[in-house]
Formats: sequence, C-alpha cells, structure tokens
Amino acid sequence: SPDLSTANVTAHLQQLQSIANANGGNRGTGRPGYKASLDWVKAKLDAAGYTTQVQSFSTSSGTSYNLIADWPGGDGEHVVMTGAHLDSIASGPGINDNGTGSAAVLEAALAWAASGNTARNHLRFAWWGAEELGLLGSNHYMRNLPTAEKDKIDLYMNYDMVGSINPGYFVYNDNPAGNGARDSLTAYYASKGIPWEYIDVQGRSDHASFRSHGIATTGIFSGAEGTKTSAQAQKWGGQAGQPYDPCYHRSCDTISNVGTTALDRNLDAIGHMVWLYADKDYGTTPPTT
Ligand code: PHE
Ligand code: ZN
Ligand code: ZN
Ligand code: ZN
Repeated sequence: SPDLSTANVTAHLQQLQSIANANGGNRGTGRPGYKASLDWVKAKLDAAGYTTQVQSFSTSSGTSYNLIADWPGGDGEHVVMTGAHLDSIASGPGINDNGTGSAAVLEAALAWAASGNTARNHLRFAWWGAEELGLLGSNHYMRNLPTAEKDKIDLYMNYDMVGSINPGYFVYNDNPAGNGARDSLTAYYASKGIPWEYIDVQGRSDHASFRSHGIATTGIFSGAEGTKTSAQAQKWGGQAGQPYDPCYHRSCDTISNVGTTALDRNLDAIGHMVWLYADKDYGTTPPTT
C-alpha cells in the first residue's frame, strides 16, 4: 500500500480554507466558495491526467455541481468508485466536514496518477455537491446514470469526516452487501494496531445513494457530534465526554479543527483501499444479450 503524504493533504486543506476565506467564510451550496472549491479540485485532476466531468443540478439554494474523475483504462465492466462530498454547510468553511474526505480522496487520486500503476478495474473518483441538503448530488448522479452503467459499479467507498480532532475510528457497517470491503478496512486498521468500531451511519452520507441501488458500499468516519465514551478514550486517546468533532456544523470547523493523527491514519487507509480494489478480481462478466 502507498504511504500517502499528510503534508500534501494539509496543503489541500489550507487551499480549501483560503477559498472559504475569500468567499464569505463558507463553501456552501449555491455560494461562490463551492464552485471555487470544485474548480480547484478539477484543475488538479485534469493536470494529473484524469478525464473529468462536471454535472450540474439545481437545488433550493441554487445550482450545485458534482465532479466525476475517471482514470483512463482498466476493465470498464468493473468500476471501483471512491467519493467524498465537497460542499460545506452555509455557516462555516467545512474543513473537517468534509474538507478532510475531499482532500484525502484528491491526494489518493493524485498519488494513483503519479504511481504509474495500471489497474485491473476502472477507477472513478467523485466529489459530490449538496450532501448537506440531503445527499442531493450523489442522488442526482445515480438517478441519471443508465442502468447498464450502474451495473458496472462493483464498489462505492465513501469518506466523510476523516480528521476529527477527538477522533474515533469507525467503519461503516450498514451495508451487508459491502462486507468484503468493510472487512478490508477493519483488517487494515487491525494491521496498524488501530482499534476500530463498527458504526451504522443510518444513511447519513452519500454511500446511501449507491446502497439504495443495490451497490456494495463502505467507508470510514472519525466522528461528528457524538460524544466519546471513557472506554473509547482509553483505547483511542482524546477526551471522554466531549464530541468527536466539537466544531461539527459550526463556523469553527476551520483548519484548526483537524486532528493530524486521525487524518494521517485515515489517509493511508483510503490509499490502501484504492490500491487494493484497483486490482480486485471481480471475475469476468458474462456477455448479456
Ligand atoms: N454526513 C454528515 C454530514 O455531512 C456527517 C456524517 C458522516 C454522519 C458519516 C455520519 C456518518 O453532516
Ligand atoms: Zn463488476
Ligand atoms: Zn455535514
Ligand atoms: Zn459530511
């Protein structure tokens, strides 16, 4: 597995903070900070050799956009997707939620491009708009994807809040169909000596848009408004009785609201999953008539 650069991800987060600062303090749907975030991510991916598409859709807060990036090559009948929502809430810069997931997925995509590896499967990355308004971007993508294209997606991995400052290490456990990838994530944490817990995230992020179409999903999460227990503080460190992210959906979700340990560990977990599932053998698809 790759050892992805936390320094690079931190630089990406600083960029997202600067974009918020220059645009009224947020990167919310229908606000200029969202589109500026998307344009910036797109430019990095284009320069790295990705084929990118911007998909626009309307919301009650104005136009939003998804960014889809395909790495050329691999077996197009077997698509492995990795995604993160790029929008913040309207009242803050959204650096942990979800600058961290967005920046980590970006760094994994850039590192894949730089690696010179060839993938067995087709790799696709996505940055969703308007998650905060109810998973609108990922739902829009799935609703508009032809059935034949949906059928090609073998796995969707979701990363939403992966650098909480008082972190937990949670692996999504709300999709029985996705147990293989779930088990790869828990095995990865175990191999690094990181205690983990399952969490049922109750459809609270964009993987739910895929799961409802029968696609295998998984993801990791370092915690939001929930309170760390004393048992969790014993195994994970940090502060019992305090939220995993004390600035969840607040204006203080800034570059100062990122836990470097969690970010570093989860970045490498994300890289591990991209590298592992790039070459996962999903078998040959029998021709359909
Ligand atoms: N999707 C939630 C948000 O953006 C956060 C969350 C992520 C909650 C993952 C649970 C699991 O506010
Ligand atoms: Zn397949
Ligand atoms: Zn949120
Ligand atoms: Zn989120």
